Amino acid sequence: MGSIGAKDVPVLITADGRRIDGRKADELRPLAITAGPLKQADGSAFVEWGANKVMAAVYGPREVHPRHLQQNNKAIVQCRYNMAAFSVDERKRPGLDRRSQEISKVIAEAFESVIFVEEYPRTSIDVYIEVLQANAGTRCAGLVAASVALADAGIPMVDLVPAVAVGKVADSIVLDLKKEEDNYGSADLPMALVPQSGRLVLLQMEGHMTREELHRALDLGVGGCRKIYEVMREALRTRYGADAPSPGVAA
Ligand code: CDP
Repeated sequence: MGSIGAKDVPVLITADGRRIDGRKADELRPLAITAGPLKQADGSAFVEWGANKVMAAVYGPREVHPRHLQQNNKAIVQCRYNMAAFSVDERKRPGLDRRSQEISKVIAEAFESVIFVEEYPRTSIDVYIEVLQANAGTRCAGLVAASVALADAGIPMVDLVPAVAVGKVADSIVLDLKKEEDNYGSADLPMALVPQSGRLVLLQMEGHMTREELHRALDLGVGGCRKIYEVMREALRTRYGADAPSPGVAA
């Protein structure tokens, strides 16, 4: 295998400020969400976001397996994020690697803080995320899909949780990185927002930014999350019409 030299790095930002796919710095990739495509799950959602394709299914509240994880005062939230072997350019080895475990953990923790878990003691709420096609930002696409799937399952939550990755690419702060930007950029910052309160329930960062760049990145991400939130709500309205589940109101 040859090493990657500077000449192999694609032009990430053109002279007129456009990105590799023609987007402006604050532009999202096209996002389409379908609520409730799976019949067997209690709740489900399918997200197509740029070249990402992600399915989420939710079960519960239901009996806890394994039993010793049961909590007497609240429900536990369990998440399994998985990438299909065919989801990436170089076939991914099937099974849970360290990256999948980390992503599953941070997504479960994000939902634990928005679901009214005290209402369902001794139960489990299980979230399955299957990435069918990956092109950067899959943990955010997974979170968005799972959030709509939780609402589709009627699980009471503070709010839907939109998520997006912001990053630094060729000295520009940009919204919603695609694969080349993630690979060759200098920072990647996925985040998830509770729009009602402005609280961040997931924030990770890889790479380097100055403090000022970080502030700009957070502002850009919050703005992106608010747009994504509208698409999530619209997906639920399309499925349920006026009866769309309304997070924030306990069932
Ligand atoms: O997907 P996300 O950006 O949340 O996580 P990442 O670890 O930053 O991965 C970025 C991208 O690298 C993924 O979305 C995939 O497109 C790609 N990737 C891959 O090709 N093979 C893997 N085993 C893991 C990730």
